[in-house]
Amino acid sequence: MAFVRVCALSDLEEDTPKLVEVDGTPVSVVRTGGEVFAINDICSHANVSLSEGEVEDCQIECWLHGSSFDLRTGKPSGLPATRPVPVYPVQIQGDDVLVSVTQES
Ligand code: FES
Repeated sequence: MAFVRVCALSDLEEDTPKLVEVDGTPVSVVRTGGEVFAINDICSHANVSLSEGEVEDCQIECWLHGSSFDLRTGKPSGLPATRPVPVYPVQIQGDDVLVSVTQES
């Protein structure tokens, strides 16, 4: 599984998603509660960028219709979205944040 550096850890503000691209895949990188998560940036309900939503309690909320997705599993917490969003493994190496999109975690 190929990990790609996406940003510096110090670039990530707590609970503020950062949109990056990994091997052509848009990924929202989120630092929350001392951990870093990577989730596909496209909501499973419609073509909306999740990185423009808000983060709370390890969930990222889609700003359009309000479904939230668990950053650990990608599962939606409520309607209208019913399908999960892919989440990806993250590695921290020093101040580097690396993500692999070749395998969903
Ligand atoms: S587009 Fe995300 S919940 Fe509808």
